[in-house]
Amino acid sequence: MQQISFYDKQPDEGDTEAELLSGLIARNKRIAPKFFYDERGSELFLEITRQPEYYPTRTEMKLLGETSSHLRSLIGDDSVLIEYGSGSSEKIRLLLNSLKPKVYVPLDISREYLAKAAEKIAMEFPWLEVRATCIDYTQDLDLPFSTDGRRVGFFPGSSIGNFSPEEAERFLGRVRRQVGDDGALVIGVDMKKDRDTLERAYNDRAGVTAAFNLNVLAHLNREYGADFDVTGFDHLAEYNADEGCIQMFLVAKEDQSVSFASTQISVEAGERIHTENSHKYSAEEFVSMAERAAFEGTEVWQDDNGWFSLFYFQAKAA
Ligand code: AVJ
Repeated sequence: MQQISFYDKQPDEGDTEAELLSGLIARNKRIAPKFFYDERGSELFLEITRQPEYYPTRTEMKLLGETSSHLRSLIGDDSVLIEYGSGSSEKIRLLLNSLKPKVYVPLDISREYLAKAAEKIAMEFPWLEVRATCIDYTQDLDLPFSTDGRRVGFFPGSSIGNFSPEEAERFLGRVRRQVGDDGALVIGVDMKKDRDTLERAYNDRAGVTAAFNLNVLAHLNREYGADFDVTGFDHLAEYNADEGCIQMFLVAKEDQSVSFASTQISVEAGERIHTENSHKYSAEEFVSMAERAAFEGTEVWQDDNGWFSLFYFQAKAA
């Protein structure tokens, strides 16, 4: 029997528009990375993960495959797996057969994409109860239903890197409260490494990352009635070693005037719109951060290059 339910906690349009506007009229213009993920953006992201230069996804998938039975012994039976930003749900597939959770709760901001991915999962794993929830997990973690069983957070792909280290620590604290005193967290984190490897991963030769970055403007045009000239911007991704993060921008090729939410916004030639930070950590840095957020019992797995880490943390009783 297929068991799937869908919950919609998508934020109010007006709030979202106000959030976008405040970023676009700021002295340093910005658009938050969650706006990448309309349906097209989710597809482009999946494409990125298949580019030869983008090592994180395939490295993490290999680690997940290798550790799934160990994870099963750490997690136990009848768990409730909560995935923050489930996208195509590709990674959880690697764990479901060995973890055998009772419930899978994919959380994602992209409603249509989430619905499709969740239906596919429910079809492939008919014994699994799927509770798909459309939510902006950067703002809101409250589930609109209760669950029983051990809660285990799943946050793969180094998506935690989109938060600043301070925000990341706060987010881990919220996850810790969500999973409760007997909960756990499985999280994938991209490691600090040489600049070339990092910059190549965000400047793939096929131009998929560039298309993904530029699509955020097309998304604003489609969904919010903006009129960005998408061809009037270049993709830029560079490693900021002081901050320990890849930073992505859209750089205006010429002066532009853009209308957004009944406001005229001027963009000067050469001006940058910041679209993403992708923070990198050392394993030690990340473990201390998780411990400050009341996790313990760390297990870490890494690839041979030490490029990516998969962590298991257990809740430390408060
Ligand atoms: C989904 C945030 C982990 O930072 O590597 C990939 C997004 N942006 N290429 C990352 C992304 C450009 C990705 N995360």
